Amino acid sequence: MTESLRVAISPLDPPNRLLMGSGPSNPEARVLRALASPPAAADDPAHTTLLDDVTVRLRRVFCAGNQKALVVPGASRAGIEAVLASTIEPGDRVLVGVYGHFGELLCTLAGRHGAAVTRVDAEWGRAVDPEELVATIRRSRPKLVAIVHADTSTGILQPLEAIGRACREVGSLFVVDAVLSLGGCELRVDDWLIDAAIGGAQKCLGSPPGLALVTYSDRLRAARADRRTPPFTTYLDVSRLEAKPVSSHLFFGLREALRILEEEGLEARWARHRRASRALRAGIQAMGLELFGDQKDAVPMITLVRVPDGLSEPGVREQLLMQHGVEIMAAFGPLRGRVWRIGSMGTNAYLPSVLRVLSAVEAVLSANGWRLPSGAAVAAAREAFEASS
Ligand SMILES: Cc1ncc(COP(=O)(O)O)c(C=O)c1O
Repeated sequence: MTESLRVAISPLDPPNRLLMGSGPSNPEARVLRALASPPAAADDPAHTTLLDDVTVRLRRVFCAGNQKALVVPGASRAGIEAVLASTIEPGDRVLVGVYGHFGELLCTLAGRHGAAVTRVDAEWGRAVDPEELVATIRRSRPKLVAIVHADTSTGILQPLEAIGRACREVGSLFVVDAVLSLGGCELRVDDWLIDAAIGGAQKCLGSPPGLALVTYSDRLRAARADRRTPPFTTYLDVSRLEAKPVSSHLFFGLREALRILEEEGLEARWARHRRASRALRAGIQAMGLELFGDQKDAVPMITLVRVPDGLSEPGVREQLLMQHGVEIMAAFGPLRGRVWRIGSMGTNAYLPSVLRVLSAVEAVLSANGWRLPSGAAVAAAREAFEASS
């Protein structure tokens, strides 16, 4: 047997990493076991029952009792693109609130589907001013307003309620990227008058990547039905996805992840993310490191840390990964090279994962000559964890 063939057929042996980056997080063990279930064809009644069950549970996580729910096989952006592509016709006016990389993505996708995009920006590290956005909505009355709820690139949370009310007042559709926030912090689709929200399976839900989770209102369905021209995409057309759901083996895992969430309780999961991030931030600061961004708007699922002068941003990440099996992430755009992003989401929004990443960071920083009080991070994290509920 040639060497290349031997390598090609050798068993898979992926490294076991602690995924403390911007997602995916480590899937729940029960989810991985559920993925070993035998598949059913898309038109098998067993599959229909599974899908119905998943969508009912999904609506509960979105707090979207009044909406449809869809699961789209693909990256999370497949869900975002499905919503935008299904509603936007060439020349439609779309307003986007931008305070990070994923707001830019909303602008790009809306533009690709022919929208005339205008934007209200905030500097990276702050949320968009809701009053400014509301005033712009009232003045410009766009067909659709899109914004990210929790931008993973900046670690900032965007207040949504006033925006939802303004959209309803003037008849705009309100679309929210909830890829990071779903399951990690308060999100109330019905109460906040959101017409479509897109969540990720791979961040706070503890499922692997590969499914986009979508919920949408009758107003959005009507906008799709009233189009003069069909969307540019057939695969990502919500009316087709609704009529002919796509099958995926990943649904087994998602259902188990949703069951685990229900056993824990949605509000308890939001609280667990808050508690884990307080512990993580206390540990980071105890090492003498500085947090990035306006902390009053900081999300509880990811923590941005300024890279101190004299340390190599990629070098530290590489040592964490290769020497400690811990993944943290680089930052995008204007923050690239200046900031690390440390996630505490899903199965890793627990004290043991937080302590492990802190000890690994402490070990790598001291090995790189950074002076810090030994053990202080772990002690501060434990204390903050005990003090919060
Ligand atoms: C807030 C947000 N929106 C959208 C995306 C895009 O997700 P995907 O890479 O799964 O398409 C991400 C990915 O990290 C995200 O964090």
